[in-house]
Amino acid sequence: MESTEHVEAQTKKKSELVRAKLINRTAKCEKLSHRGQAALAQEVVQTVDLPHPIYIESAQGPYLTDLDGNRYIDLTGGFGPNVLGNKPEPVEKALATQIKKGWHFGIPGDGQAYLAELIKDSSPAVDEVMFCNSGSEATMFAFRAARALTGKRVIALFDGSYHGIHDYALIRANLKSDRSTPSSITLGAGIPDEVSQDLMMMLPYRDENAFELIRQYKDELAMVVIEPVQSSNPRLDNQEFLNKLREVCSECDVLLMFDEVITGFRIEYGGCQEYYNIKPDVITYGKAVGGGLPIGVVAGSQRIMNTFSGAEDTPAIFAGGTFSGNPLTMASGIGAIEYLKENKEEIYPYLHEQGNRLANEINDFCHANNIPAKMMNAGSMMHLIFGGEKIESSRDIDHSLYKLEKEFYLHLLGHNVIVPGIHLAFISYAHKPEVIDEVILAFKNTFEDLREDGYF
Ligand SMILES: Cc1ncc(COP(=O)(O)O)c(C=O)c1O
Repeated sequence: MESTEHVEAQTKKKSELVRAKLINRTAKCEKLSHRGQAALAQEVVQTVDLPHPIYIESAQGPYLTDLDGNRYIDLTGGFGPNVLGNKPEPVEKALATQIKKGWHFGIPGDGQAYLAELIKDSSPAVDEVMFCNSGSEATMFAFRAARALTGKRVIALFDGSYHGIHDYALIRANLKSDRSTPSSITLGAGIPDEVSQDLMMMLPYRDENAFELIRQYKDELAMVVIEPVQSSNPRLDNQEFLNKLREVCSECDVLLMFDEVITGFRIEYGGCQEYYNIKPDVITYGKAVGGGLPIGVVAGSQRIMNTFSGAEDTPAIFAGGTFSGNPLTMASGIGAIEYLKENKEEIYPYLHEQGNRLANEINDFCHANNIPAKMMNAGSMMHLIFGGEKIESSRDIDHSLYKLEKEFYLHLLGHNVIVPGIHLAFISYAHKPEVIDEVILAFKNTFEDLREDGYF
C-alpha cells in the first residue's frame, strides 16, 4: 500500500512540494527573519525572500551555505565582486597578513599606492586613481569632478543604467516619455525634482538619437556616463555604439565616463576599456577591485584627476572619507588583482567560454521547449529575461510573467542554485565546468517541473 506521504506527493504540484521542502529545511533562517523584522528598518542587501529570506553562514568557492547547513551553488557573485569565487586563497592570505598588522590607522599604509599602480597598469586611460568606499561614492566624486573641471552643470545617463544610490544617480527615464527622447524622473522620495529636471539628463540606450541629443545640449553637458555593458542588459555587441559615443563626446568637448563598477576586472582584466579598445576620460571602478571588501575608485586622465589635487590650477573638489583607502580593503584588493593579473590569460577566456556555454544551453532548451525566456549574458554576468518572442533587453520583460519568474527562482533554490533577488547572476573562476553542468541541469529541471505544474 502507498504511504499517505507518497499519495500526497503525487497529487500536489511540484512547486508546492518544493516550497514545503524549502520551509522545512530552513527553520533557523525563518527564525532569524522574525528578529530582523523587529529590529531592522531595512535589511540592507536584498536576500532571496522565497519563501522567507535565506541567510548565509559561510561561503567557499562556488558555494554558499545557509544558517541551516544547506549548500547552494552561488550565482550571486556577491553582486559582482567575486570574480574568483568565494573566499579565494590569495585574498584570504592577504587579509590574514594585514589583520595581524592592524586594519584601520587614520594614516595610510603602503597599500593605496600599490593598488593604484595595478589599476593604472590595467588601462591606458588611467593616469591616476583615487580610492573611496563604494561604487556610489565613486560615481558621486566623478560627477563632481566633471562639473568642476568643465564648469558645466548637466550630467547625462543612459536609460536602463544603474550608477548607485546618491541623488544624482537615482534618475530614471520617465516611461511615459518617448523612448528616443526620454525625460528624467527621480527614483524614490526625498530627491528634489530639480535634480532630474535641471542637473541630469537621460539619453536613449543603443539608440542613435543619443548622439543628436549630445550635440544639441553640448554647451550644458559636463559628461556623458555609460555602463559600457549595462547590468540590466548583459550583452557584448555594443562596439559600434560605444565607438560612435566616444567620437561624438570628443567632437562636442563633453567628457565620457565608463562606469566599470561591475565590468572592471570582470569582462576582461582591463574591463570594457580593453574589450572594446576605447579610452574614456573618466572611469569608475568598485566591486572586483576590492577583492570582496567595500571599495570605490575614480580613475582617468591627468586632466580630470587634477580636480582631486588642484594641480595645474584645476578647480579642486572636496573628497575624502574615514575608511577610504583603508589597509584591509587595499590588502584584499591587491590579493585579488595580483592573482587576476598573473592568471588573466586563463581566467578571462574561461569566464567567457563558460558564461556563453551556460547561456547557450539554456537558450537552446527554452527555444526547443517554447519557454518564454532568454538568458542574456556578457561573459560571466547574466540575466534570465522572461518575455515574449523577441527578447533583446530588460525592456522586453513581460511583467505579466512576474508570478512565473518568482516561482522559477523559488524552484531553482529548491534545486540548490541561488540567484539574488535582483536576478542578475554571476559565475566565477571557481565555478568549474562540472558546477556549470549542475547549474544548467538545475535550470532545465526547474523549467520542466514548472511546465508539469502548468505554468507554460
Ligand atoms: C555600474 C554600477 N555603478 C555603481 C554602482 C554602485 O556601487 P555600490 O553598490 O558599491 O555603491 C553599481 C552597483 O551595483 C553598479 O552596478
